Amino acid sequence: MAKDIQISSSRPAAVKARKRACPEPWVIGLITFLSLIVLAVCIGVTVHYVRYNHRMTHNYYSTLSFTSDKVYGEFGKEASKNFTEMSQRIESMVKYAFYKSPLRGDFVKSHIIKYSQEEDGVLAHMLLIFRFRATENVDTKNSIIQRILHEKLQDATGPPKLDPASVEIKKINKTETDKFLNNCCGTRRSKSARQSVRIVGGTEVEEGEWPWQASLQWDGLHRCGASLINSTWLLSAAHCFTLYKDPARWTASFGVTIKPLKMKQGLRRIIVHEKYNHSTHDYDISLAELSSPVPYTNTVHRICLPEASHEFHPGDEMFVTGFGARQDDGYTQNHLREVQVDLIQTDICNDPQVYNGAITPRMLCAGSLQGKRDACQGDSGGPLVSPDPRNIWYLVGVVSWGDKCGQPNKPGVYTRVTALRDWITSKTGI
Ligand code: ARG
Repeated sequence: MAKDIQISSSRPAAVKARKRACPEPWVIGLITFLSLIVLAVCIGVTVHYVRYNHRMTHNYYSTLSFTSDKVYGEFGKEASKNFTEMSQRIESMVKYAFYKSPLRGDFVKSHIIKYSQEEDGVLAHMLLIFRFRATENVDTKNSIIQRILHEKLQDATGPPKLDPASVEIKKINKTETDKFLNNCCGTRRSKSARQSVRIVGGTEVEEGEWPWQASLQWDGLHRCGASLINSTWLLSAAHCFTLYKDPARWTASFGVTIKPLKMKQGLRRIIVHEKYNHSTHDYDISLAELSSPVPYTNTVHRICLPEASHEFHPGDEMFVTGFGARQDDGYTQNHLREVQVDLIQTDICNDPQVYNGAITPRMLCAGSLQGKRDACQGDSGGPLVSPDPRNIWYLVGVVSWGDKCGQPNKPGVYTRVTALRDWITSKTGI
């Protein structure tokens, strides 16, 4: 009986509870409706925000005529000091013109690719890169860009003296832009944000980061590094060819891995410096002619050669790259690595506790006196490179020798490219 009462009295309570847990259908409907509206608004705002802020790259080929007190022959040569100075000046005038215009937020950069001589002055050929919002009408941009350059270059102060009325603009696509950039020496694809540390203890690189790097292989086995200096010539070290001389058994490959390789080419001719001295490592430089020219691509193209008179300084940003060992007595690496190194003054490098006078005028030292950051076996012949203020990369040195790898007070020794610059011209015309 007592049980019955308990059961009957608990029933209404259960019904009440069920009522509270389950609201009326119209309430559910309303809540669902409101949530959907909130969701729709959120999605709408996000889509709008993303679309509005999404930017697309647009490239233009532009020519601009100017006069200067310097004659064309002085700055017309790519990678010369005068070429760089002139390009820096014009690029900054163009940059400033856009900074004072409504396109200031869209302008990315201008890049001089070459000069050509006209009857009345010189023509600068440059690429203009913009990033426009996806919502903007790009069809009208040609004339806006042209007008801005007409107007704003008016008050640019030279030298050189620009002729703003001469500006011509043509929209070009990504493939055309890449082709122009790949034909210039020393250009690199900007890498994704990645901390670059150190080949002895270094970092693997991404495809296209060091597009001039080649691997020289004897009977298919990696022996040395080399740098592409034009579409048919590689620059390397003399000692790579002391034992192995027959060009027919050598191949050169490109790309960031040895297996699989990106592009393979036979060698037609090997030129070792006449004064190369095996015991002192002096004049450790060689040239290798490819059996046919390599086509330039985003991931394979040439490095610039510095002028003979160019001086690099301690503190300049420098990298050495190669497939060499990560430590003394280590193995060749299948994936290309890089390491940042510091230029070390020759008098310091010739100190008794360092290389005690072994560094000749055809050599330079780079790495770190503390050790660790260095090239190693298998990196020989490969590039030591440095960027100029326009971020164009130059060949500073060729991996030559060192006492073990990464030891304190035993930095890497490189063939000094500027000292042998004229020899390179005499053999290749470059
Ligand atoms: N001679 C070596 C080679 O044939 C390169 C040595 C570079 N050594 C150094 N510690 N940086 O690969």
